[in-house]
Amino acid sequence: MLEKLTYSDPLDEVLELQSTYLCTKSSEERKKLGQFFTSPSVARYMASMLHKPRAKKEISILDAGAGTGILTATTAIHLLNLGCESVQAVLYEVDSAVIPYLNNTMKVIERHYHGLNRKFSFEIRNFDFVLDRPDKREMSFDISVINPPYFKYRLKDSPYAKAVSDLYKGDPNIYASFMAITIASLRNSGQMVSITPRSYTNGLYFRNFRDYLLNKMGIQSIHIFKHRDRVFKTDENNVLQENVICKFVKNKKYDFVDVHSSNCDAGLTSATTQKYPRSLIIDSSNNQNLIRIPESLTEANFLKQAEKLESTFSDSGYFISTGPVVEHRTRDFIKAPQNRKNLIPLLKTRNITPLKAIWSSKSKKDMCFKLLNGHERHTLDSRNYVLLKRFSPKDEKRCLVSSIYLADSFKEHQYIGIENKVNYIGVKSEELTKTEAFGLCAIFNSSFYDRYFRCISGSTQVNATEIRMMRFPNRDQVKDIGKKAMRIKNFDQHKIDDLVNNALKVKQGI
Ligand SMILES: C[S@@+](CC[C@H](N)C(=O)[O-])C[C@H]1O[C@@H](n2cnc3c(N)ncnc32)[C@H](O)[C@@H]1O
Repeated sequence: MLEKLTYSDPLDEVLELQSTYLCTKSSEERKKLGQFFTSPSVARYMASMLHKPRAKKEISILDAGAGTGILTATTAIHLLNLGCESVQAVLYEVDSAVIPYLNNTMKVIERHYHGLNRKFSFEIRNFDFVLDRPDKREMSFDISVINPPYFKYRLKDSPYAKAVSDLYKGDPNIYASFMAITIASLRNSGQMVSITPRSYTNGLYFRNFRDYLLNKMGIQSIHIFKHRDRVFKTDENNVLQENVICKFVKNKKYDFVDVHSSNCDAGLTSATTQKYPRSLIIDSSNNQNLIRIPESLTEANFLKQAEKLESTFSDSGYFISTGPVVEHRTRDFIKAPQNRKNLIPLLKTRNITPLKAIWSSKSKKDMCFKLLNGHERHTLDSRNYVLLKRFSPKDEKRCLVSSIYLADSFKEHQYIGIENKVNYIGVKSEELTKTEAFGLCAIFNSSFYDRYFRCISGSTQVNATEIRMMRFPNRDQVKDIGKKAMRIKNFDQHKIDDLVNNALKVKQGI
């Protein structure tokens, strides 16, 4: 006869239910529904960010995409510790297969409350959260701790397209729809703690969503993970996204935001914490409402100093574009460099090293682009450019790696091929001189600029839109840096940093 297990901590039983469910479904099936469950340490931590709602008899919780219910479980237990007497939870979960496990988790919590003479009730709604829209059903809540699914959907035929267009315009990702509906479902002073990809904090796609979010909610605290070891894969390019935990409160404005950062999940409770003025975290200077997250005081220091630069990259007169060669669409054009007739160099990520673009017709790995009919759609005139990698490997310390491409070094070619994993940069209205190219390249390769960039972006992708909006030295400053950078023969981080810091009067340290 099987012995019935007894648990001293209700969460152990909840975890047992989660593991049993995980054994029933393949990871492929779970992936389709965005079923990535929150670990117990993260779930406990997220719940611990909540404060006790002001004198209310019954506290209501909304769980959007509940899975096996770990977030409601940790939240309910935290509310008990805060002295709440009565809690009511509404849980949305679209996958019928997980419902029995969710129901059992809630029963565990109900029993636990009962044993302590407190009241816990729940309603499981086996519906699609986005289409059901609790905010339109006149339900309202005090608290929501969520780990929403994340995936992009096809605007053409997805039922989700425009499902939240009454809240904000644009359809960036299902997780933003979950957040928006949750916000709409909260009462005044309601709290939302979310774990999501960091992508909504920047970028054009999420601009309208950020407007909605920051209009309705005050950011009280943010937790980031310094290492990109827990990451979301977001699209077909396998762009690695950091995840971020944020606590928001409805219709509140906080003058300061707490930023916690830890190495990974395991170090959650020993995270370092800094308080930053709201204006340092939210950049409202350009209608973008970017949410910048410095992971340390050093980064915050660089961010503050970058803010003082007079101009932005675009306003200084520079352009940045993505290389036009898309490999899978131009296979017929891409050749190994054996027969050099009608072939031009194709610059790929591997050719971009700090300061120098290294490409040789003698290397088997370096590729060429054949000037077949119609090549003009994919090639550029061979001019001076500064090249910037669009993707950095997950474990690479730097996000920005930049090289110089000088037309003079490839004199025999009228055209140049640049793949779409590389950005190219020039001056909008004239030719980029060698000196200015050195200046731009030194700035992008400096620790100052790299760490400033890290405050803005949480992905391994360097988007042109982000660069365009970043504060940037003016052209005279760039040329001045360029003159000195031309004397550096081989890349040396210290030399580049000294040069850029001196020229821009950047102070290191805190
Ligand atoms: C990332 S998981 C998180 C589960 C759970 N909250 C946790 O933290 O462990 C997202 C959950 O949302 C559910 N889900 C996906 N799309 C949904 C939808 N449109 N409506 C309701 N639930 C959905 C998935 O089945 C999955 O259980």
